[in-house]
Amino acid sequence: MSLREDVIAGLSLPQKTLPPKYFYDGAGSRLFERICRLPEYYLTRAELSLTRAHLASIARFAGKGCELVEYGSGESLKTRLLIRALRPSAYLPVDISESALRAAQRRLAREFPWLHIVTVNGDFSRPIELPASRSRRVVYFPGSTIGNLTPEEAHAFLSMTRGQATRMLVGVDLRKDANVLHAAYNDSRGVTAAFNLNLLARINRELGADFDLDRFAHYAFYNAPLGRIEMHLVSLARQSVRIGRHRFAFDAGESIHTENSYKYSIEGFRALAMRAGFAPNKVWLDRRGLFALHALN
Ligand code: AVJ
Repeated sequence: MSLREDVIAGLSLPQKTLPPKYFYDGAGSRLFERICRLPEYYLTRAELSLTRAHLASIARFAGKGCELVEYGSGESLKTRLLIRALRPSAYLPVDISESALRAAQRRLAREFPWLHIVTVNGDFSRPIELPASRSRRVVYFPGSTIGNLTPEEAHAFLSMTRGQATRMLVGVDLRKDANVLHAAYNDSRGVTAAFNLNLLARINRELGADFDLDRFAHYAFYNAPLGRIEMHLVSLARQSVRIGRHRFAFDAGESIHTENSYKYSIEGFRALAMRAGFAPNKVWLDRRGLFALHALN
């Protein structure tokens, strides 16, 4: 599915919806990097600090010299820590964005001249073929990206990776006080709002749509029964938007659902992994108990 097809299909649903994977164009990726540095957005720092603190046992679990597959192209600090500690025989970043893959490849090749890098361009919200492996494979899925999937989709994703790897490392944001979660997605500087609204700006840029960004507002809340943050863009007026030959009508107050970010208790995530055929092994937390890295085999 292309951006155009996904947008037309999503905006035709009774609850208008856009897939979060389209947040990350150039501008969106830069906004996401700013989110990661926000005081309220604890996820990135918590995962980095737990990776630093437990690097030796994480590396022991993965096994030195393995092939490391990373979903989402990692040029991040925690990926580099892991590569340094693991000395993988190959590193396979998988990403939907060709440009993100090229950037990761360029930077990692410079920092790790010995590293064999095999980029895989693909959308992991659907089944994906990896090149044949030559040694033990470990799948690394950091950042709580798995939180973007519904539990059903997460189950399907884990079942797919079950067949691709002997072991898996998954970063998962933990359930916690709703106020802490709320603040992380409603930062005082409005960066998350800009990130959310950039999706409409991107659709304007790439599909020639006429979204009026002043007539949509960022809205994010914690849906406690479902254990997820929901992000929406709320129409501030009754209006209609044109995308090519399509028109979409919005009532005042009607929303486009742009993202889910599921939070899991340790036990909740382990149960999900077990249903997908994994045996939960270790789990590492940051010192404040905000974020978990699950080891599965
Ligand atoms: C990259 C999916 C983990 O859900 O926290 C950050 C994206 N959205 N602020 C998350 C995001 C709003 C992020 N993930």
